[in-house]
Amino acid sequence: MEKMWSGRFSKGASSLLDEFNASVMFDRELYIEDIEGSIAHATMLKSVGILTSSELEQIINGLDEIKKEIEDGAFEWRLSDEDLHMAIEKRLTDKIGQAGKKLHTARSRNDQVAVDFRRFVLRQNKEIKELVLDLMQTTLDIASKHTDTLLPGMTHLQHAQPVNFAFHLGAYLSMFKRDIARFEDSYTRNNISPLGCAALAGTPHKIDREQTAKLLGFDGVSLNCLDTVSDRDFALEILFNISTLMMHISRLCEELVLWSSYEFGFIELSDEYSTGSSIMPQKKNPDVPELVRGKTGRVYGALIGLLTVMKGLPLAYNKDTQEDKEGVFDAVKTVKISLIILTQAIKTMTVKKDNMQAACKKGHLSATDLADYLVEECGIAFREAHFITGKAVARCEELGIDLSDISYDELYAIDNRIKKDVIKYLAIDHSMNARDSQGGTSTNQTKQQLKYFKDYLNRSQI
Ligand code: ARG
Repeated sequence: MEKMWSGRFSKGASSLLDEFNASVMFDRELYIEDIEGSIAHATMLKSVGILTSSELEQIINGLDEIKKEIEDGAFEWRLSDEDLHMAIEKRLTDKIGQAGKKLHTARSRNDQVAVDFRRFVLRQNKEIKELVLDLMQTTLDIASKHTDTLLPGMTHLQHAQPVNFAFHLGAYLSMFKRDIARFEDSYTRNNISPLGCAALAGTPHKIDREQTAKLLGFDGVSLNCLDTVSDRDFALEILFNISTLMMHISRLCEELVLWSSYEFGFIELSDEYSTGSSIMPQKKNPDVPELVRGKTGRVYGALIGLLTVMKGLPLAYNKDTQEDKEGVFDAVKTVKISLIILTQAIKTMTVKKDNMQAACKKGHLSATDLADYLVEECGIAFREAHFITGKAVARCEELGIDLSDISYDELYAIDNRIKKDVIKYLAIDHSMNARDSQGGTSTNQTKQQLKYFKDYLNRSQI
């Protein structure tokens, strides 16, 4: 098969090279961007007098037909065409002849791939954002029902202080909102057109880059052609942003796995989103959150992979750069399916409120409240208050009870400065609601946080 660049060669490429060099089997994912980019380029070429109206019409019709062939599965992808850009251009020329051969005027595959891949990544920024908004909405819906549901807040995975479940979910809502901001920010920064940079240095043809930028929905054109054909920051940014998002949902998934164990028993995943064991008939396994947690690894791999590809490249385009795409395609698919299934898994899970509350009766969650009481109400210095509380906890351990259930007499025996009203400070719900400082867990503060996310989602979903 004759190559489009075969003019200076006297021998054909080996089939081994064809296989090694080709990107067509994966970069065809960019066919829409490539065809739209070519139509915009041709439209501009016509308006600056490089193409006639009839040539433009033939090109547009030819590309529309090719698009349909690809979508119908009728397009013949050949390794020997090397990449999607040449496969489409070759097919166009086979269809319309001379006019097809003019399409590549004032363009190189270097700016062509830069524009296609950039637009693909920009589109993904938006699509991923929409899926995160869905996850936020589902999380908020659950949280709204649980502003009074107590569960142990933990540090070091040990019982620390009581919180409510909505507050716990609110932590994830905060992370997801920042994740969205990163996708938005990256979109805005990178929404500039590489088209017209040609191979590396621009072109002597009197092109109109602003026009193609506008036709393709960019906010403007890039400043320096050498940078533009070399730069893959936009791809690195989406990989970092996806990695951070996956890290956040992986932490939630880790909690879902823990919470669905018998030891916690805080949630039960629905049958639709749980799996069984081939040998142990009783098993109900949380494969969905486990897989999301596991898939985070391949996304990080894609980020590190591309950073490594880029780090030693001299300006401008090098074929190494062709390695930019598969990791991004995989990361994008991985995060999208992960977000969709995680949203469904949490939408359909059962929250076992009673087990959460019962767990608050273990671990003396109100110990800090007793120390704070001794400081506030009895005028005892904090260090001494801490010691007295430690004594009270030790007594509870002896009695086999939780600090929230200790009697006044027991406390009085430990320190006679303690007054009767202490008992109300030791109740778990009192402890949670006492944390009413800004951003705290009290039901009052939590409701304000949820209102903030509700307003945010209302604004974002317009
Ligand atoms: N398939 C190539 C890529 O994905 C397109 C650009 C090729 N440019 C070149 N000068 N060989 O990077």
